Amino acid sequence: MPKISELGHLGKAVRQSLARGAPDIDLDTLPQSLDLSPDKITENVLSINSQTPDDRQRFVNEALVKHMHDFVREVSLTTNEWMNAIEYLTRVGQTCTDLRQEFILLSDVFGVSALVDIINNPKPEGATEGTVLGPFFVEDAKIIDNGESIANEGRGEYMLVKGRILDLSGRPVANCAIETWETDQDGFYDTQYTDYNADCRGKLYSDQEGYYVFRAVLPVSYPIPNDGPVGQLLASMNRHVFRPAHLHMMFQAPGFAQLITSLYFTGDTFLTSDAVFGVKSSLIVEPRLITEEAEATKCGFKNPPFYLVEKDFVLVSEQEAEEARERVRTQGP
Ligand SMILES: [Fe+2]
Repeated sequence: MPKISELGHLGKAVRQSLARGAPDIDLDTLPQSLDLSPDKITENVLSINSQTPDDRQRFVNEALVKHMHDFVREVSLTTNEWMNAIEYLTRVGQTCTDLRQEFILLSDVFGVSALVDIINNPKPEGATEGTVLGPFFVEDAKIIDNGESIANEGRGEYMLVKGRILDLSGRPVANCAIETWETDQDGFYDTQYTDYNADCRGKLYSDQEGYYVFRAVLPVSYPIPNDGPVGQLLASMNRHVFRPAHLHMMFQAPGFAQLITSLYFTGDTFLTSDAVFGVKSSLIVEPRLITEEAEATKCGFKNPPFYLVEKDFVLVSEQEAEEARERVRTQGP
């Protein structure tokens, strides 16, 4: 059998679609799709998709088709439910703008973002765990020296964060770039204000001994955006929309795998019901309230009190990160 373009009596629409790049196929190479039953349709779709040249795309699509078809069969999806789902996903897409990503939020509240992160960033014993990046990271953090503040005055209760950056053997990691961002005392990131000015975010570097220290404010819990389709979905499931307070931190040093993580705080109301499943026990810290005036002055605060958070971060080398990923690929998470 010739290719489609070599067949006689091609309509204008067919010729135009081929001219636009539609694949020109020898029809003899295709499986026969006719009178498909619920139990036969899956193997037919898999068969026709098996021509995908890219190995990874073919593998992923095969699993996707199997799970989608099994899902439809398992729940006996009604036509109405299928149409509602299509209309829902359409609304999710229509809610997205340059500043708002409703699809990522949808992925977050189903735990998919956290799962993708866990699978792609497994950590060997002793290394600091990562967690979701979230939607509020932007590139233009101001660079500060160790000891300086990432927050302007009046943005919340004082907090001092200090510790060391180390490798798996306990050796210091010098000149590690540390980016950190957080909410103010009202639960908003700087990017959520209409008059955006970088605040409560900053970038600094560890010193030659791996030490870092910066001033910030105690972040507070906040809602994920709930005025769109994802908010409606959560309300329909009687789920709250809140994240426990956290301080985002991202580390990058030459030869080391990037670490994207957050610190959470003991006692937070939402610690065990984070709307996006980002909390890990190893990332929960207990801030200590320091009330001595001399200590506050020494650390650069105008007055006491301030909260002290001490936390070391352990990075893995690029090679150690790749070995951990390979273990997940071969042995599962
Ligand atoms: Fe956040």
